[in-house]
Amino acid sequence: MSTVRGRKIVVGVTGGVAAYKAAELVRLLGKAGAEVHVVLSEGGARFVTAVTFQALSGNPVWTDLWDARMPNNMAHINLGRDADAILVAPATADFIARLAHGMADDLLSTLCLARDVPLIVAPAMNRQMWEAPPTRRNVEAIRADGVTVFGPAAGEQACGEVGMGRMLEAEELLEQLEGFFVPKRLAGRKVVMTAGPTFEAIDPVRGITNISSGKMGYALARACAQAGAEVVLVSGAVALPVPAGVQRVLATSALQMRTAVLEALPGADVFIGVAAVADYRPLETAEHKLKKSGDTLTLTLTPNPDILAEVAARPDAPFCVGFAAESRDLDAYAEGKRRNKRLPMLVGNLVSDGMGGDDNTVIVYDDAGRHPLPRAAKAEVAQGIVEHLAGLLAAAGR
Ligand code: PMT
Repeated sequence: MSTVRGRKIVVGVTGGVAAYKAAELVRLLGKAGAEVHVVLSEGGARFVTAVTFQALSGNPVWTDLWDARMPNNMAHINLGRDADAILVAPATADFIARLAHGMADDLLSTLCLARDVPLIVAPAMNRQMWEAPPTRRNVEAIRADGVTVFGPAAGEQACGEVGMGRMLEAEELLEQLEGFFVPKRLAGRKVVMTAGPTFEAIDPVRGITNISSGKMGYALARACAQAGAEVVLVSGAVALPVPAGVQRVLATSALQMRTAVLEALPGADVFIGVAAVADYRPLETAEHKLKKSGDTLTLTLTPNPDILAEVAARPDAPFCVGFAAESRDLDAYAEGKRRNKRLPMLVGNLVSDGMGGDDNTVIVYDDAGRHPLPRAAKAEVAQGIVEHLAGLLAAAGR
């Protein structure tokens, strides 16, 4: 379930081309279960009309400080009073400057000044405006005042230039806002993890791999980052976007994955092995494409190093969490793997329940026994796993 469900979000829209993305943001917030109220600046209304935002939010749109629709004529107070957050997207350079200086000459700026709820801004501007010393100073000033800044991103801009200043996409803003409301139970922790399949080359075009999609690992990386952790995700080849706040390192084979994990490990508090790592690789990789010859082809395989077991056996081992995907006898195999690798926590799932799909059913195993989590979307399952992990870390005094 989205953390914005049931929350009241005031979306401020100022005058930038990226205002068109705010329309999609309002739609996504509503779909995720938030109650959305839009405040349009005069400039914002030049780009997208109030009618659009009213239709998408299902609520009246506010533009005027003197709007008589508020019974006490205090829209600037009432709108923010029981809100969970104000998100200004797009926030122009001018709006950020006025925010930094406490200006209150229209409804949105007055609302921001009169608030006692979190304020988040998503800057959107030309790269030179973003890099200009006054903007740099203003962004630092609002950060120091406790305002949260989402983005901006680098990329192609409406003016035709390429650089920093592009507003985050609506989906990215929703993801960051969802993360904003997650309790920071892993704050100050560094988590290194693996996800996805490995690919063990037979020749330049063929290899041994498996059906792991990476979805469970990426969902868990996102959940750890949203819970405040610094996350390094060592990932096999998958087609998934990198979650916000996660540093991804690509690794194709088990050997590459091991090297990347060992490089990322210094300073890690937690290591989580979600990847479906091939237990064996071809003893030799042919330099050229193998040609058909005869009825059968015999491959000689050699064992891969067990990354998780190696990390868990280190004298300075971080708190290690394993995963196990089984096609039968989940309890026995999962608990067996946990004990063999001396892990304080392991997440077990049946291949038929979780591999490749969007949902999963998992059981967490630890020294206290087995703890089933309800079947849910992987994002939600990941939140449950993080909760359990945070509880064990706290109980272990780590
Ligand atoms: O990617 P998805 O489609 O979302 O699917 C998710 C998943 C099913 C792959 C995931 O939930 C999962 O269960 N991952 C573990 C897969 C597995 O069966 O691992 P294993 O039993 O081979 O290994 C046990 C543990 O040791 C795992 O944490 C694994 O990452 C680790 N391991 C295994 C072998 C090896 N050489 N190195 C390792 O680190």
